[in-house]
Parts: sequence; structure tokens; C-alpha cells
Amino acid sequence: MNEKINILQQKQEQALAGGGRARIEAQHKKGKLTARERLHFLLDEGSFQEIGMLVTHRSADFGMEKEKYPGDGVVTGYGTVNGRLIYVYSQDFTVFGGSLSETHAEKICKIMDLALKNGAPIIGLNDSGGARIQEGVVSLGGYADIFYRNTLASGVVPQLSAIMGPCAGGAVYSPAITDFILMVENTSYMFVTGPNVVKTVTHEVVTSEELGGATTHATKSGVTHFACANEIAAIQHIKQLLSYMPQNCEDKAPALPYEPANEQRPALNDIMPENASQPYDMREVITEVIDEGSFLEVHKDFAENIIVGFARLAGRSIGIVANQPAFLAGVLDIHSSTKGARFIRFCDSFNIPLLIFEDVPGFLPGTDQEWNAIITNGAKLLYAFCEATVPRVTVITRKAYGGAYDVMNSKHIGADMNFAWPSAEIAVMGAKGAAEIIFKREISEAEDKEAKWQEKEQLYSQIFANPYRAAERGFIDEVIEPADTRAKLINAFKMLENKVVNNPRKKHGNIPL
Ligand code: HXC
Repeated sequence: MNEKINILQQKQEQALAGGGRARIEAQHKKGKLTARERLHFLLDEGSFQEIGMLVTHRSADFGMEKEKYPGDGVVTGYGTVNGRLIYVYSQDFTVFGGSLSETHAEKICKIMDLALKNGAPIIGLNDSGGARIQEGVVSLGGYADIFYRNTLASGVVPQLSAIMGPCAGGAVYSPAITDFILMVENTSYMFVTGPNVVKTVTHEVVTSEELGGATTHATKSGVTHFACANEIAAIQHIKQLLSYMPQNCEDKAPALPYEPANEQRPALNDIMPENASQPYDMREVITEVIDEGSFLEVHKDFAENIIVGFARLAGRSIGIVANQPAFLAGVLDIHSSTKGARFIRFCDSFNIPLLIFEDVPGFLPGTDQEWNAIITNGAKLLYAFCEATVPRVTVITRKAYGGAYDVMNSKHIGADMNFAWPSAEIAVMGAKGAAEIIFKREISEAEDKEAKWQEKEQLYSQIFANPYRAAERGFIDEVIEPADTRAKLINAFKMLENKVVNNPRKKHGNIPL
């Protein structure tokens, strides 16, 4: 037996050595950790159970039969993060550049299948040169096997993808289907075609970092939800993200123990500027309302006119969607609509209640928006709210104008509790524009047109720039003092804790894509 155990140990040592010392050093020189080091930092100590450590590729072309590494460029298995089960794969760039062979893909699929059967999150740590070039179509097939499972798992278990090196070509579509992407600044990139192909086809000269680095995708494309300063920061973000999520779609969102305390927040009474056209930072409202320090903002630097992120309210996980008056006056446009819609759908998939803060002047006008389909894209946000069955509570802090009033979780589209601050203005449009249209003749016939316009603007404002017309109709459940917001929300979400609502039976809806 001892001899046999020795053989086993040799094989295990070989697997642990990855692509060898020189390649590990090269990896470290680039500022990157190895696949196993990443797992060490991600998982609770001693919890990792490896699956498929001795798997090798089956390729025989180009002398590959002589070049085999146990594990075949990906470390797969399960373990715990803060005591909770997760399934994980970590690509090993030191073995064939982490490229995806048939067997490499099979290993990933195996843990994805286990995750689906057992209802636990899937974490992918990606660092790969793409399809194993020596293998051809079997490698492409392997990718497709993964995409298929990503799609089946979507909405069943949370899926997180950290990009910690190259991720190019069709390989980008696995992370793209998952729920959240995290990228590491300066050492990771994602693109469908790299700088060389771009140069040949469009004659644009661009670096990998500019084309598909973390900053690019965090600000311009919105492909990544988080741009992290380094790999450790990315791993911390994964752990934090997981803490807000249930294990699967049948599970309740996590709740930390909470001791009731004084829930009054007098500072909220002083946040609103005197003049309704002045901006203020909605993050200040969020920070005052939620449990201290509990906000994890998602897509922070993309479509900043809407804020989305996870937080805790009296210990419970919630998802926040908020207009941001400090950026483009909080207007809804294409990017903010898709950003909001995707986040809402994630929360709804995983039973995370939604809290909406509303201060929105409407949809952004212009040819750019219309020609790029603000109609279709704005409809995504509307659709996402309409179909969400989790508890949904809105607080209108100031403007709720036009179609945006309907879209931003109004009662009409299924919101459960809608509050308004006394500063709320709920109307078809702003008073200036409204006066111009409905008093057109009176204004044009007046001697002092400007004075008449102002007079009519004030009149419209007096009638509609408040929450009371909506409250009279019951479209607003309660007009509240800002200082009471936290207490009101805690009670509302507690009251909605056991909400059950079933949408009509269907195969699946057809969200306007
Ligand atoms: C096999 C690969 C590989 C690949 C890298 N390697 N990519 N082996 N298949 N796709 C190997 C290299 O031969 C090298 O082996 C080691 O990994 C490290 O690669 P280097 O080039 O030395 O590293 P670096 O300079 O950091 O460059 C990394 C890289 C580059 C930018 C990723 O390797 C590269 O451009 N690779 C090819 C990328 C590519 O075209 N992939 C196919 C895309 S198409 P040694 O033995 O020297 O250590 C695709 C389609 C997917 O992925 C479709 C899904 C639907």
C-alpha cells in the first residue's frame, strides 16, 4: 500500500505544480496569482475539495500526447465561503495558457451540473488564452457545453465570473451570461476580437487595455459590474456579493441578526435643496436609510444617472434602484434603463426585495436616444419592474414626471407600498413645459408673454408640484416626513415578508431585447 500511496502522492504533487516553476514565476511577474492561490484566498480555510485533479487532455495532434499536465489547465471543485457552499473553477494560465480543451470544459461542466443539482452558486475565475488551438472543434464544443449550462443555471443559482487575465473571442460569452462580472484593472481584458483584428478590419489602433480592460468595461460598455484594483480586491468583492444572495432561487435572501433601535434619521429632512432644479446626491439618502455601511454599489461608474446595488435594511438583504439627480438630473436613458432592468431581474430571480428611490425628470430626449432605441430599451426597465414578484417599495423624494413616473415602480405596475416625501412633484411634465402647452394661446396673446408664462407655470406648479393629488387617488400610500423613511421602510418590508404573487402561467415572457 505504501508504494501505491507514493504513486498517488507523486501524481498529486505533479498536479499541484501546474505548468511548472518558471511559468508560475512569469504569472507572478505579471502581478497575477496562480489558480490555486486564488482559491486559497477565496475559500474558507481547508474547505476546498478538488474534483478531477488528475484529468488530462485526450489530444494527440501536434505532439500533444507527450505534453500532459494533470488537471489540464483548470482547478475545479467545491468549498465554502463564509460557511456557505459554492462550486468553483479556476483556470490555470500556467498550463497551456489556461486554454480550454475538451476535458478542461468537461471539468467545468461537471461542477456546474453539481451546482445545479444541489442549488449552490457557481464562481468562475477566468484566466485563459481561449480555445485550445491544438484541439479545434472539440474545444469549441466544450465552450458551447458551458454556455448551455450557464443559461440553464441562470435564475436558478447565482453565477459570478471574475476575469483575472485574458478572456477573448467566444470565451467572453460564458461570463456575459452569468449574473455578475468582476474584472481586475491592468491585468485582465475581455473582447470578441483583439487589437490586431480590429486594426486589420477597421484600421483603428487601440491597446488591449483601451479596447477591453476593466476601466473600459466598467465605464463605457457596462460589460463588467466591478473594476477591482487587484485580484485580492476582486476576491473580497465576490465574498461580499455572495453575502447578499441566497443559495438558489428557492431560498430566501439572507438576513443578519438585527436589534431594533431608534430608526429616526433627522438628517434626511435637510437633504433636499430649496430649489427643485438643484441636484443632490441620492447616495446620501441611501446611506441614511440603510443599515450602516451596508451598501455594495453595482455598476458604479456606468450610467451614473441611475444607482443600483445591494444593501441591508434591519439586517435583511435588499436591492436598491435609485435615480441620481446629481448626474444628468437623474434622467432615464438607454444605458440607465438596461442597467436598472438587469439588476431588478437578478433581485427578482433570487427573492431579494426591491427598494426604489425616485427623483426623475423623465426620459432623455434626442436623436441619439431615439435612433438607438430608447423605446425598446426603456421598455426593458418597465418590463422588469412589471414582472417582478418580490416585495417592491418606492419612495418618491422629488420628481416623478411623465412615463418615468409609471416606469419607476409605480403602484399601477405592481409596487406594494409607495411613499412620497412632501417635496414630491408628481405630474405629466415639468410646470414650465406644461404651461407652455396648455396656456399657449393665453401666453401668445398676452402683452408681457414672459410674465404670463411665469404666472401659468406657477399655477401648474401649485396644483401638481406636490404629492397630494397622487395621495388623494391612493397612488401614493403615505406622504411621510423624510426623517421617518427608514422606520417606514423597515415596517413595510416586514409586512411584505411573506408576499406571494404569481404571474400568469407561461413558458417565459418576451422581454423587449
Ligand atoms: C493553446 C495556448 C493558447 C491557446 C496560449 N497558449 N493560448 N495554447 N491554445 N489558445 C499557450 C502558449 O502557447 C504558451 O505556452 C502559454 O499558453 C502562454 O502564452 P503566451 O503567449 O506565452 O502568454 P502571453 O504573452 O501572456 O499571451 C497570452 C495570450 C496569447 C494573449 C492569451 O497566448 C494569445 O494570443 N493566445 C492565443 C489566443 C487565441 O487566439 N485564442 C483562440 C481564440 S478563439 P508555453 O508552452 O510557451 O507556456 C477562441 C474561440 C472561442 O477562443 C470560441 C467559443 C465559442
